[in-house]
Amino acid sequence: MKISVIGTGYLGAVHAACMAKIGHDVVAFDTNSARVEALSNGQAPFYEPALDELLSEVLSTGRLRFTNTAEDAISDAVMHFICVGTPQLPGSDAADLKYVNSAVALVLDHANCDSLIVGKSTVPVGTAQGLQATVASSPNGYQLEMAWNPEFLREGTAIEDTLHPDRLIFGVVSEYGEKLLMDVYSSIIEDGVPYLTTNLPTSEMVKVAANSFLATKISFINAMAEICEIADADVVTLSRALGYDDRIGRRFLNAGLGFGGGCLPKDIRAFGARAGELGASDAVGFLREVDKINMRRREKAVSVAARLVGGNFLGVNVAVLGAAFKPNSDDVRDSPALNVAAAMHLKGASVRVHDPKAGVNARSQFPTLTYCDTVTDACANVDLVVLATEWEEYRTIDPVSFRSLVRNPRLLDTRNAVDREYWTNAGWQVYALGRGALKC
Ligand code: UGA
Repeated sequence: MKISVIGTGYLGAVHAACMAKIGHDVVAFDTNSARVEALSNGQAPFYEPALDELLSEVLSTGRLRFTNTAEDAISDAVMHFICVGTPQLPGSDAADLKYVNSAVALVLDHANCDSLIVGKSTVPVGTAQGLQATVASSPNGYQLEMAWNPEFLREGTAIEDTLHPDRLIFGVVSEYGEKLLMDVYSSIIEDGVPYLTTNLPTSEMVKVAANSFLATKISFINAMAEICEIADADVVTLSRALGYDDRIGRRFLNAGLGFGGGCLPKDIRAFGARAGELGASDAVGFLREVDKINMRRREKAVSVAARLVGGNFLGVNVAVLGAAFKPNSDDVRDSPALNVAAAMHLKGASVRVHDPKAGVNARSQFPTLTYCDTVTDACANVDLVVLATEWEEYRTIDPVSFRSLVRNPRLLDTRNAVDREYWTNAGWQVYALGRGALKC
């Protein structure tokens, strides 16, 4: 099938490559020429495991091209995937829909055959219906129609999540839309992936409800961690014990520094804002609490760090291991790790940050912090090591050899990533968030 993909960020670049991988002819459009050029050379402008290899593979088949000319991508495609961002509006909790609106307008301007416009971006419920009204009344001359097919990929496992998703959701207004979506995903459906056809608003709700549920689950366990920290209980054991109950499940019950990134924080806020517009603020009022619990984890990490170094940060050297919002990503949007690093720096600490992939992005966001290329450089002569993003590289640090590197062997494990006993036996003072009362 001839497909256009509008927007080549995390979502669009991965989606375009995966659609070409399953046999479609894909032209992906972006206004950013540097990005288009890099992608055309098989280089993703962000770190995503195995994406460069996949890009090279599908570019060489001729089934994938990138362009900065909208007409080139759109004119003869029978399906247009809208993969642009919906960031938080400055000064508001609501989502900014300007990129989605202009992407649909571009399709209306350039489509030269009957085609389906498929939104993948996360949008407030009701957006697709509004767009459908615009599309249906457009004087374009061809049969154009909206559908919504929300994306559930996670950064770090984006290719696997796209090629082998948990489910496919098709929000449609007609059998024509449903049939085209089933055709485009036929190989994935044949693999046994469940799919569900519904109306446009339900499909939008699936995505925001899923992200809200995940955020709630994380904040739930972090709220339990707050109690554990006072009552001298252990949140890691608690998570394991709860997780054995199939009705609860162990996944997304990792307590620690909380959630960040370009999706969960802004999506729960946008959901709250949309619910307010719909006159249903109370229905998702709990999401404000979810957000508050989440942000409290960052404050908690900073206050524990201060206690560990004797009360204040003046004259104190701190290594922060991790800058990305999660491992296997170079994304630093709303990163809890960087937030904590910046807060300690503001309070007077000399902070050195290391991240295997996110150093460049982190530096551009927080240029006043010091960045190190190696963990050893970051930790040399420090009074405290803060493990803030659980990269595999940090889990396997040898505490024995690292002990001689630092000035004071203290570790704050905000992600419950290392074996406390092993580190303690190697002579470290270790505190892990949520794992009992802090005794200092
Ligand atoms: C999230 C959803 O998981 C995807 O399904 C969705 O498609 C995506 O948002 C999106 O809307 O585009 P992502 O932001 O890539 O994906 O990352 P997650 O794996 O969900 O992690 C989000 C944050 O929660 C990270 O900061 C992570 O460290 C934190 N987290 C996750 C926890 O603190 N504890 C956990 O148990 C799990």
